[in-house]
Amino acid sequence: MSAKPPILITRNLVKHYPTASGALEVLKGIDVAIYAGEIIAIVGPSGVGKSTFLNILGALDRPTAGEVEIDGTLISQLDDSGLAQFRNRTIGFVFQFHHLLPEFSALENVMMPALIARRNGHEVVARAKQLLADVGLAQRLSHRPGELSGGEQQRVAVARALMNAPHLVLADEPSGNLDLRASESLHQLLWNLSRRDGRTFIIVTHNLELAKKADRVIELFDGRIKKIHQITGR
Ligand SMILES: Nc1ncnc2c1ncn2[C@@H]1O[C@H](COP(=O)(O)OP(=O)(O)O)[C@@H](O)[C@H]1O
Ligand SMILES: [Mg+2]
Repeated sequence: MSAKPPILITRNLVKHYPTASGALEVLKGIDVAIYAGEIIAIVGPSGVGKSTFLNILGALDRPTAGEVEIDGTLISQLDDSGLAQFRNRTIGFVFQFHHLLPEFSALENVMMPALIARRNGHEVVARAKQLLADVGLAQRLSHRPGELSGGEQQRVAVARALMNAPHLVLADEPSGNLDLRASESLHQLLWNLSRRDGRTFIIVTHNLELAKKADRVIELFDGRIKKIHQITGR
C-alpha cells in the first residue's frame, strides 16, 4: 500500500458549527491518508460527524481548520468556481437521497455531469448508456426518477457519479432508505464497479457486515478517528 502515493490526505481537519450555545466541535483533528484504488468504509454512531467529514472530503463544505489534499491539489486554495470544476472532474458523489432531477430521464440524469463539464455528443450518450447497463438499467433509459423504484433511482445516482470517470467516489449511506436486499445489492454494485475500474471509493455506512468488505474501516468517535481497521492485505 505504501508504494503508491496517497490520492487523498487530510491534515488536522477541524470542523466547528456555530450554535446558540457556542461552537459545536464536530471534527477535532482528523489525519488520514487514503491510497489510490482503496475501498474505505467510514463508520460511527449517528451524529458523530460522518456526513460532515465526507462533505469536506468532497469539497461540498469547507473545514474550520486543517486541509484536504486530493490528487496533489490543496482544495482550500481553490476559489468557488475552481472548486466546482475540481469537484465535477475528480469526485463522484452518491448521496443518501439520490438528488436526481425529476424532469429529466435516467439517461439525461446520468449525462448531467458531462454536460456541466461542457462535454456533449455521441460518446457522452454512449458512456451514459453503458453505465446504465452496468447498473442493470439498460431497459430504463427514458424513465424519469418518479417512474423508477427507490433502488433503481439509487442505481441511476451511482451511474451519474461515475459519468466523468472520477478518481474518487464518495457515498454517504447510499442505501439508507432502501430495504435490506436492495441495500446489499447496491453496495455490492458500488464495490464491484470501484474494484473493476480501480477507483478510490469512500463509503459511509451503518452496516458493519458491508463495512467489512472494505480494504480499511475508519471508525469515528468523539470528533476523532478512534481506530482504523485493516481488513484486506491490499
Ligand atoms: N449545518 C450544521 N449546523 C450546525 N450543526 C450541524 C450542522 N450539520 C451537522 N451538524 C451537527 O453536527 C453533528 C454531526 O452531524 P453529521 O455529520 O450529519 O453526523 P453523522 O453523519 O455522523 O450522523 C451533529 O450533531 C449535527 O447535529
Ligand atoms: Mg450522516
